Amino acid sequence: MRVLSGIQPTGRFHWGNYFGAIRQYIALQGNAQSFYFIADWHALTTIRDGAKLRELRYDAALDLLALGLEPAQATLFFQSDVPEVAELQWLLMTVTPMWLLEKCHAYKDKKAKGLAADAGLFTYPVLMAADILAYDSDVVPVGVDQVQHIEVARDIAQRINNFYGEILVLPSARTLDDSAKVPGTDGDKMSKSYENTIDCFEEPKKLRKKIMAIKTDSTPVEDPKIPETCSVFTLYKLFTTPEQQATLAARYRAGGMGYGEAKQALFEAADAWFAPARAKRADLAADLPFVQSVLDAGATRARDKAREVLGRLRKACGLGPQP
Ligand code: ADP
Ligand code: TRP
Repeated sequence: MRVLSGIQPTGRFHWGNYFGAIRQYIALQGNAQSFYFIADWHALTTIRDGAKLRELRYDAALDLLALGLEPAQATLFFQSDVPEVAELQWLLMTVTPMWLLEKCHAYKDKKAKGLAADAGLFTYPVLMAADILAYDSDVVPVGVDQVQHIEVARDIAQRINNFYGEILVLPSARTLDDSAKVPGTDGDKMSKSYENTIDCFEEPKKLRKKIMAIKTDSTPVEDPKIPETCSVFTLYKLFTTPEQQATLAARYRAGGMGYGEAKQALFEAADAWFAPARAKRADLAADLPFVQSVLDAGATRARDKAREVLGRLRKACGLGPQP
């Protein structure tokens, strides 16, 4: 069973990305031939600054490895290192109806706002379908916002198979458990578009400052407080055991505790959680040739598989050498 997913390198990873997606990719590694890639081609629909993208895609690779992606258990690569995917995208586009792409939300939302969409954004779901279908992927773990795109990939694969025979594997989405949305420093969903994020690799001093600035209500210190509605407590839960949570919840309910104390507890828990990843990241940053060798080996493995799948389709649709 092949598990595959991609993540766009459009900013440094924050707690929402980690608990909502990355941690779950890591949990799935090794139980299959897991493929994870950094979607740098997709990122080009929003980042048009070469130096910036170069920095972000390597940051993403370092971050994923530091957070626990094991090169021995999963294949990590850059999307753009597998040019076969671009050819596959073309083949898929020739069977993709316009209406299927017109109803996809990224394009539809932009158009509804009266903004000009480019062909890259319009055909984004076909590139995503190529990413998935190129490797005979069975299961694609994604956030709920991406489920529509997996359905499009499945539809396109079905159309190819109807025209040319059983060539492509039909993938299924596995929705990640982001039902418990990670709140940002302002209480809204943590997202880089809201500028309310706390990054996974924040240094302790800055981390503490960010945590101390999390918005809380103005209940006086002496009054009892409600843990369930407080973002500080919601975040604390991500890093701690049920016993630790019960202890802090009791402090909330008893009164006499200021939010500063809860924030300090959150800081200590989060700092302890990410400290090993920070150390590992520093080691990786000091050994970029190793990181490059992981990415190169990943790209080779991914390309081998993509060549095989593309070869099947090329042959079926009349391309390539005379059989
Ligand atoms: P952002 O909203 O910061 O732009 P992305 O859309 O790039 O983040 O997120 C990549 C993945 O990370 C999403 O598909 C989703 O699964 C997960 N994710 C992002 N923010 C959160 C959050 N606040 N809570 C839970 N999961 C999240
Ligand atoms: N579009 C996805 C996102 O923004 C990233 C992505 C690109 C992806 N290709 C993919 C995810 C293939 C899963 C499978 O999150």
